[in-house]
Amino acid sequence: MTTSKKLFIKTYGCQMNVYDSERMAEALGGQGYVQTATADDADMILLNTCHIREKAAEKVYSELGRFKGLKAEKPDLKIGVAGCVAQAEGEEIMRRAPLVDLVVGPQSYHRLPELEAKARRGERALDTDFPEEDKFAQLKARPKARRGPTAFLTVQEGCDKFCAFCVVPYTRGAEASRPAARVIDEARDLVERGVREITLLGQNVNAYHGAGEGGEWGLARLIRALAEIDELERIRFTTSHPNDMDDDLIAAHGDCAKLMPYLHLPVQSGSDRILKRMNRSHTAESYLRLIERIRAARPDILISGDFIVGFPEETEADFQATLDLIAAVEYGQAYSFCYSPRPGTPAAERPQVPADEAAERLQRLQALLADQQRRVQDAMIGREVGVLFEKPGREPGQMVGKSDHLHAVHVSDPGVEVGALRRVRITASGRNSLAGEVIAGK
Ligand code: SAH
Ligand code: SF4
Ligand code: F3S
Repeated sequence: MTTSKKLFIKTYGCQMNVYDSERMAEALGGQGYVQTATADDADMILLNTCHIREKAAEKVYSELGRFKGLKAEKPDLKIGVAGCVAQAEGEEIMRRAPLVDLVVGPQSYHRLPELEAKARRGERALDTDFPEEDKFAQLKARPKARRGPTAFLTVQEGCDKFCAFCVVPYTRGAEASRPAARVIDEARDLVERGVREITLLGQNVNAYHGAGEGGEWGLARLIRALAEIDELERIRFTTSHPNDMDDDLIAAHGDCAKLMPYLHLPVQSGSDRILKRMNRSHTAESYLRLIERIRAARPDILISGDFIVGFPEETEADFQATLDLIAAVEYGQAYSFCYSPRPGTPAAERPQVPADEAAERLQRLQALLADQQRRVQDAMIGREVGVLFEKPGREPGQMVGKSDHLHAVHVSDPGVEVGALRRVRITASGRNSLAGEVIAGK
């Protein structure tokens, strides 16, 4: 009997890294690896990293430092770095961290089995190519194990937009879409294994243009095809670019019942001058008009966004324009960051806003966003929403799930099972979640 080796993966960054970590675990599953929840008993540790801001990238080196002792105790332990830091600074990782055995970029992880074998032979392995072969097609058929009720599914990867602050076009490469039939097959497989909600992923997911029957399909066409899978109850997608929200996708929010009323639509800034310097190719006004059209199609949609404050040359007036845009939109969810200069991107070379000014602006912006999120969440009280239950809560008999609008909701109802989709009347709004009562089976 062969004893299985243990694999510990730690995932940083966006949802696409979460998806990629699952694929890497499958790829190494063929080499006899099973996943473990702690680094201590692992035979191989993989850090799936994020390069989006400086802090994210630095975490990798401090985390690697922590594995020194472990590696000294266990010479057979292999340590790998995957993801966007691996892509951006693979050679530097090899130099700075001699304990690293392998480095693999986000486009090469289907080659992990070969890299692992090389590492086992005692050679260090680095692969940060953008290979011609389709990594998704190379990955072995996944084991048919049961899964939880929600899953991510990457449909598009990479970006050609080159926003002046962003590393993604360099770490993930050129924009590419998976063929529609492959996506549909993967979705069917997930549904057979218990998945009821799929979130379609892409760095620019609404730029999706995969090969399909009759020519190229846009994201809306793909969503409508997926909606025909009977037991798939919910569809979401993230992250979208304002310029790629076409008429069909806006219409789908109104006429496709399985497409959930939640849209993550980053704007970054409300100042046209800054948007131009960011190379965003939309204006504050065009963004606001777009939001109006989306709300006309789906009035109760929850809008979520991303903001960068303290972008080079941002004045107090520019920042005020961002606050004005936020006031006009009323966001239900938001992610906001101080600008972080990234090596190799155009904005890193420009005059920087002092860190304390940027931090002070971020505080004001987050206070405004927190007020809005609170109002949007509290406004759910008394409403009836769908909730897909994902796990038991802390208290006995309690179940926790996500509403159509992606709010966490808990109910005290021993009759509800994981994976059940129920209508729930919202009765209270807490710090980070809603509470409700199940009103009818579905
Ligand atoms: N493709 C998505 C965003 C991907 S990156 C889009 O176009 O919106 C996720 C978020 O990280 C961005 O929306 C942005 O708000 C933030 N971000 C990216 N680069 C950054 C940087 N250099 N400094 C601070 N925040 C950054
Ligand atoms: Fe980065 Fe998004 Fe801009 Fe592409 S569109 S460069 S992923 S922020
Ligand atoms: Fe980070 Fe790469 Fe995602 S830089 S946000 S892990 S695409």
